Amino acid sequence: MSREIRRITGFQTDPDFFRFEEREEIDCGLVMDVLRGRRLGVIFRDVIPEDAQKESVARFWASPGRERRNGEPSYHIGSYHWNKSTEAYLAEAAQTAGPVRDVLDVPNSPWHSFRSGLAEELARYGAVIRTARHEGAEASRALIRAWDKEGSFALEPHEDAAQCRDPRQAGFEVQRALDREICAVNMCIEHEEGGRLVLWNIRPDDASRRALGIEHTGFSYPADLLADFDELRLDVRRGDVYVFNGSHVHAVDTSKGNRTNVSFLMGFVDEHNVVTWT
Ligand SMILES: [Fe+2]
Repeated sequence: MSREIRRITGFQTDPDFFRFEEREEIDCGLVMDVLRGRRLGVIFRDVIPEDAQKESVARFWASPGRERRNGEPSYHIGSYHWNKSTEAYLAEAAQTAGPVRDVLDVPNSPWHSFRSGLAEELARYGAVIRTARHEGAEASRALIRAWDKEGSFALEPHEDAAQCRDPRQAGFEVQRALDREICAVNMCIEHEEGGRLVLWNIRPDDASRRALGIEHTGFSYPADLLADFDELRLDVRRGDVYVFNGSHVHAVDTSKGNRTNVSFLMGFVDEHNVVTWT
């Protein structure tokens, strides 16, 4: 990685904004706030029913569609749009749709209840939530992923906006979400120890991304360059669902055992459509 940079520049939010709201049940009004850029993030504690956690985890580990990411310490089901063409992403999404659906379609599925709750909230504003599409093909409904990396970060510091600017994905509707907010949704179905979500109060600009050679990937930001910024570490436990603004640099810190999540990205692409992708 090139290092012609001594300081990351970009947008820092007001200290009052840089905090997580916490609730004991899902409140889609708060999720709307994150989508609208009025709030950094929200965590709903212990909202995934125990039976749904157990069944999702069992199906994940038993799935014939579970893959080991090349060169990355994680297992996953589903595909990533990160660092590839729209065509490659959507082809992989189609190939993995069956195994993904199998994990999502458990009784009391957190994925289904979150989506239907948010759909109801969006309907009040004449808007819908749907998976992103391109020329008749559909994005992955979710990425189910287990991290098991040793070291100071289980998932290195990165942000989720740069990957939406990849020229190989020009014309893919997710790129229009950049005009508003890119939000990350995570549902924790398996968790042992550690694995906190870390966020830094910086949304890097293009000049910094370019200097780091990560203009279209947003992965990764050297930890020493992040020391200048306020950070927030959020304990995450089995059963929690959290949503946050993915333009802020974020990471997962040291984790012991399996930390398995159902996740997707989402954002408004116009006034009436929230699309989701992975
Ligand atoms: Fe992320």
